Amino acid sequence: MRDQRVVIVGGSSGMGLRVAQLVVAAGGRVVIGGRDPDRLAQAVATLGDRAESRRVDNTDKTSIAAFFDGIGGFDHLFTPGSSQLSGRIDEIDDDTAESPFRSKFWGQYYAVKHALPHLAKTGSIVLMSGAYSQRPLAGAAAYVACNSAIEGLARALAVELAPIRVNAISPGLIDTELWQKRPKEAREQAHARYASLSTLQRVGTVDEAADAVLFLMRNTYTTGSALFTDGGYTLR
Ligand SMILES: NC(=O)c1ccc[n+]([C@@H]2O[C@H](COP(=O)([O-])OP(=O)(O)OC[C@H]3O[C@@H](n4cnc5c(N)ncnc54)[C@H](OP(=O)(O)O)[C@@H]3O)[C@@H](O)[C@H]2O)c1
Repeated sequence: MRDQRVVIVGGSSGMGLRVAQLVVAAGGRVVIGGRDPDRLAQAVATLGDRAESRRVDNTDKTSIAAFFDGIGGFDHLFTPGSSQLSGRIDEIDDDTAESPFRSKFWGQYYAVKHALPHLAKTGSIVLMSGAYSQRPLAGAAAYVACNSAIEGLARALAVELAPIRVNAISPGLIDTELWQKRPKEAREQAHARYASLSTLQRVGTVDEAADAVLFLMRNTYTTGSALFTDGGYTLR
């Protein structure tokens, strides 16, 4: 990744931030995006002078266009930023039901669209999916379908945008800030359930997921793939 410039929409926390740390440690540069300016500033302070930040809310097309406007050339795009809710089809309102597609699907689609004028032809795009795409749990139908759609989008864009490579990462449960923000009891229950359902009988670490993202950026013969960093959750 030496001298590579990587743009991460959703780079101030979790898997996005860890990818940014790995890129900088390998001699690359990063531009991280997110909604909360304080979080962005804190992240840049830990990343050092090869990092910069820009505000973006990927539920808003105008904000995505402004994020990429004048950003300069770069080599890889990673888009883990997402704010969605989920629930059972017979319990949630329409706004909640539509939130995964609004932020995670269309947010990534429009990020790719506005990134393209700046993205190197030798570069790559890593979309964020999730392993529930292939093995759903009850209570998240729209979120599950959204992840399946993102894996389809990666395949379609790989064909459409070649030689730019496009892949998706489909993590299982990864113990990020997203989980650490939740009440302890609910988090522990969800982690224990995931561990019992997965082949490796544990949840994943941020390092394990970030390492898979770096692989997809670096490996010049992989395109159109969904890489399941899920401890074998989808095998059972
Ligand atoms: N953790 C898991 O177990 C897991 C498993 C499978 C898939 N995933 C997927 O992985 C992605 C990231 O998860 P994570 O656990 O790393 O989350 P995280 O630690 O909460 O980080 C999310 C990042 O995205 C940014 N973000 C959130 N909403 C945004 C928006 N509307 N526009 C732009 N940026 C936004 C956040 O900053 P701001 O809040 O300041 O905007 C933050 O930088 C999500 O798409 C999630 O569905 C997670």
